[in-house]
Amino acid sequence: LSGCGGGSDDSSADSDTLTIGFIQTGAESDWRKAHTVSVKEEAEKRGYNLKFADGQGKPENQIKAFSSFVVQRVDAIILAPIVETGWETALRKAKAAGIPVLILDRTVDVSDDSLFATYVGADTYQEGIQAAEWVVKETGGKANIVELQGTPGSSPAINRLKSFKSVIDQHPGLKIIDSQSGDFRRANGKQVMEAMLKKHGPENIDLVYAHNDDMALGAIQAIEEAGLKPAVYIKLISIDAVRAAFEAMVDGKLNCVVECNPLQGPLAFDLLEKILAGETVAKDNRVKDEVFEMAHAAEDIKTRAY
Ligand code: AHR
Repeated sequence: LSGCGGGSDDSSADSDTLTIGFIQTGAESDWRKAHTVSVKEEAEKRGYNLKFADGQGKPENQIKAFSSFVVQRVDAIILAPIVETGWETALRKAKAAGIPVLILDRTVDVSDDSLFATYVGADTYQEGIQAAEWVVKETGGKANIVELQGTPGSSPAINRLKSFKSVIDQHPGLKIIDSQSGDFRRANGKQVMEAMLKKHGPENIDLVYAHNDDMALGAIQAIEEAGLKPAVYIKLISIDAVRAAFEAMVDGKLNCVVECNPLQGPLAFDLLEKILAGETVAKDNRVKDEVFEMAHAAEDIKTRAY
């Protein structure tokens, strides 16, 4: 697997050890790093030989890694797809080879659901609703909003945009005045926010809705560098609820976070074991998310492991 780092060594696996190929999106955010650790730790705990392929943010790397796992005849594939589309052919190859595929975190857009065994992840559509409901409550239904989108074509970016808008559109006083991608990355979030401050003028932006914490943390830097107080002059809400976001809330710089739970390894392996044992499992398995506000962040941070 060229360009794929961190794999476990095959030579250490005896013939009874099952080999699982895990294709990750990359390491774009703190959330993603916690997600990778969750899968790797669970595989190790249960004694699997996990081959790790890092997509490094490029869908073509993921497709290449997927084909390679099929050629190697791994026992199962866990796929966290960067983008929703383009998976049909690869999944058909795995199905033909009898290799079950568990789709993790992000969904795929395929015409035939039997191409994968099951899906495990958060309800990223609901997260956008939760964020929008907080915005309505916090602003009393009147605000100019700028949106920092995740990776174009990824299911969380598509869902978080659509669902947020569906609620905001019901309130004539709430306006999404701009919406740009920051690719789920902190540096991009900062850059996009700088450009938005220049384009619209800080006085015309009341609130930032970021599709993940890393972009919100970048936006906070941009707001501070513009000499303004984040969370006071411009309010911010983001999705993920990683430790750095709780720290920002404790520091009074971020108003609210909607959780997207990255600890998906245990549920993924519970299901994978059933699939490998020939049992039927539910096709759609969601982890539960909560909303955390600045006011309780000092307490809530104590239980955040990532
Ligand atoms: O797919 C989940 C999203 O991907 C998380 O919100 C984001 O931080 C990550 O990179």
